Amino acid sequence: MRILVTGGAGFIGSNIVDAYIEGGHDVAVIDNLSSGKEDNVNPRARFYRLDIRSPEIDLVFAKEKPDVLNHHAAQIDVRRSVSDPTFDASVNIIGTIGLLQACLKHGVGRFIFASSGGAIYGEPQNLPADEDIPLDPLAPYGASKVAGEYYLSCYSALYSLKYTALRYGNVYGPRQDPYGEAGVIAIFCQAMIDGEEVRIFGSGEQLRDYIYVGDVVQANLLALERGDNQDINIGTAMGTSVNELFMRLKAILDYKKDAVYYPPRQGELEKIYLANAKALEVLGWQSQVDIQRGLELTAEYFKERSELTI
Ligand SMILES: NC(=O)c1ccc[n+]([C@@H]2O[C@H](COP(=O)([O-])OP(=O)(O)OC[C@H]3O[C@@H](n4cnc5c(N)ncnc54)[C@H](O)[C@@H]3O)[C@@H](O)[C@H]2O)c1
Repeated sequence: MRILVTGGAGFIGSNIVDAYIEGGHDVAVIDNLSSGKEDNVNPRARFYRLDIRSPEIDLVFAKEKPDVLNHHAAQIDVRRSVSDPTFDASVNIIGTIGLLQACLKHGVGRFIFASSGGAIYGEPQNLPADEDIPLDPLAPYGASKVAGEYYLSCYSALYSLKYTALRYGNVYGPRQDPYGEAGVIAIFCQAMIDGEEVRIFGSGEQLRDYIYVGDVVQANLLALERGDNQDINIGTAMGTSVNELFMRLKAILDYKKDAVYYPPRQGELEKIYLANAKALEVLGWQSQVDIQRGLELTAEYFKERSELTI
């Protein structure tokens, strides 16, 4: 298939691009490198350094004639979405609409969308959260993901565009930014390797659904053929606390210090984890990498990377 991946220089997108190429697909990438890195882009993919909101994306669609658009480019910083909701909406909502319009114009058959199970359900009563509970985003970032899903649903009803929205848990693994605001596992790995202080905000008992990027990649491979017009959680149905992550990584990386606790971050959810029965039923997808193995693989990646840069 011919596949155009937005955000293909970023953490998740670049891992997906590698797997698509490995699977024999013909891949092009659009990314403005605002947080992604050109080094992440598979050399066998054609790379367009462009903003998804740029009118020039039309030329890319005309040239590439993709069968599938896989949309991972986004403003991903929840706190920035609060401080600058207009920018967040501009990238995440207007940017997504522009891509939908380009898909219509250029006859793209399928749209795979990176949504967020961690940001759209709020603080649900019943866990794990399944796809049918009311949506309750608590930050503009989550609202922008919900808007993206609603636009996809409209476009599939109005036109013959098929979509799959993958509602990820907290994705972790190789190439995640260890210096960003989010991505606690990458941040902990790097801090431990550098012998720096590891900071935990709040009690550390907040629960999240950590999902290894290799499993997320697998869902994106399956979504090339399945999951028509569905919103699907991609998670483990299990909550893991930040304290547990810390203890496991401390053992894996032989880190000697204790964590340092800071006041909770304002607006942070207490617990969210995602039911995954629909992913199995619709995509035939199940998480394969448990948290211990995923942490080992991630720690190994950051260790090797640090040794290379010394
Ligand atoms: N990491 C997670 O835990 C997680 C969870 C749920 C959903 N998601 C979604 O998955 C997607 C990928 O996230 P990630 O963690 O890989 O983040 P990332 O920042 O590594 O990747 C995003 C990529 O999009 C690019 N980009 C940003 N704005 C752009 C624009 N206007 N035009 C073109 N390119 C642009 C960036 O340069 C970057 O390469 C995002 O849509 C994010 O909302 C991520």
